[in-house]
Amino acid sequence: MEVMTDQSSAPAQDAARRDGFASRVGFVLSAAGSAIGLGNIWRFPYMAGEGGGAAFVLVYILFVLLLGFPVMMAEFSIGQATRRGAVQSFEVLAPGTRWSWVGRLGVSAGYAILAFYSAVAGWALGYLEKSVSGAFASPISADASGELFSSFIASPVTSIPAAALIIALSAAVVFKGVGRGIERASFVLMPIFFLLLLGLAVHSLMLPGAGDGLRFLFKPDLSKLTVPIVMSALGQAFFSLSIGMGVMVTYGSYLNRRETGLAPLALSSVAADTGVALLAGLIIFPAIFTAGMKPAGGPGLAFVTLPTIFSTLPMGSLIATAFYALLVIAALTSIVSMIELIAADLVDRKGWTRGRAVLLIAGVGFLLGIPCALSFGGSAFFTRFFGVPDGFFGLLNIAFGNLVMVLGGLFICLFVGWKWGMPQALKVLGIAEGKKLGVLLSFSIRWLCPAAIAAVLIFIVITGKFF
Ligand code: PHE
Repeated sequence: MEVMTDQSSAPAQDAARRDGFASRVGFVLSAAGSAIGLGNIWRFPYMAGEGGGAAFVLVYILFVLLLGFPVMMAEFSIGQATRRGAVQSFEVLAPGTRWSWVGRLGVSAGYAILAFYSAVAGWALGYLEKSVSGAFASPISADASGELFSSFIASPVTSIPAAALIIALSAAVVFKGVGRGIERASFVLMPIFFLLLLGLAVHSLMLPGAGDGLRFLFKPDLSKLTVPIVMSALGQAFFSLSIGMGVMVTYGSYLNRRETGLAPLALSSVAADTGVALLAGLIIFPAIFTAGMKPAGGPGLAFVTLPTIFSTLPMGSLIATAFYALLVIAALTSIVSMIELIAADLVDRKGWTRGRAVLLIAGVGFLLGIPCALSFGGSAFFTRFFGVPDGFFGLLNIAFGNLVMVLGGLFICLFVGWKWGMPQALKVLGIAEGKKLGVLLSFSIRWLCPAAIAAVLIFIVITGKFF
């Protein structure tokens, strides 16, 4: 493991104060740890299931490759250039302008995503406990599993404390700092995560429904594509990579300033994230087809359909335990990054101590998380919430998880491509302007990403179909 020393030209006192990643490997594991999360294992399969399978997957992969990688590089370049949090970075690079609102939008999205995300992580924790205590040791029917899930998520007595516990655990990691908290936790958690994931995928691919599962995921029927499906694939690409809200600006700010060759780091994070989403699909869909169930199960897919299947398998309790442990671990390293996004802003811009920042964020996240946890029957008001599917939870999930992240991505590209300038960004990234990668990144950040995002958003407005 190579250890980096701080050679930045920032004032010595500042460099000493600012925490950072100790190694490239630790940085990649942390960035990938942020990207890889419930978005891959819970959100991707249910969105793909609702979006008709392979057609959604194809568009999603195109967006990840064509837009995801350049936007992640753009974010890294901003963070590396300024070594500041998501809001202050824009203030430093474009003083006296309104660009810092891009950062503020991202930080607000951090609170909103933290809220609904920790609710789902709380479900995973509850299901981990159920698996360990043998709830899926003997076969349960789809109806019984549906009821178990509905009554579990409708009961605030369990779902709220579970979400609180998850937030508290993640906050404790962030409190310890970047190098000693986030990087170390990622070093331990990510390898366990990959082992569990691979084991489960191998197991699923040996099921009789594996062929149907593979066809569903990889044999596209493009006639199934609609504007809302394209939008959800776009939103999912941004959500899954944790881009468009400043998380990667923040992580980039903790890298040594002289660290060049960021492209392989971004590429590894993107590849790992996409690989994990596809593996999650390979775990879930063979199991679904084996049991003769429907892929369009919505947000309950990983919680209703899977336990039914686990309960019929030999060593079902063990497999269920592995799966929900996987979900909890994946969620933790992502929640850590949401908290860090906001904490870095409060520490850098407002001069708060880490402890105070983390306490405030955990508190707000927890309070906002309560209506999310009550959106599934716990409270009629939040469940129905102005007719949005999945109530208050659904509103945060779609508005912030999809729309705001995509909008943020658009603004970040416009900022780097047209305001701050590609030559500066490429210089920070250590990429020659005339080389293939430089030309490709310039084209993507200046033209391709803004045009693609704008086109999808315009279609949404014209058709008026948001969901
Ligand atoms: N990318 C994470 C996931 O896939 C979610 C996330 C979104 C994390 C936004 C940080 C910021 O689960």
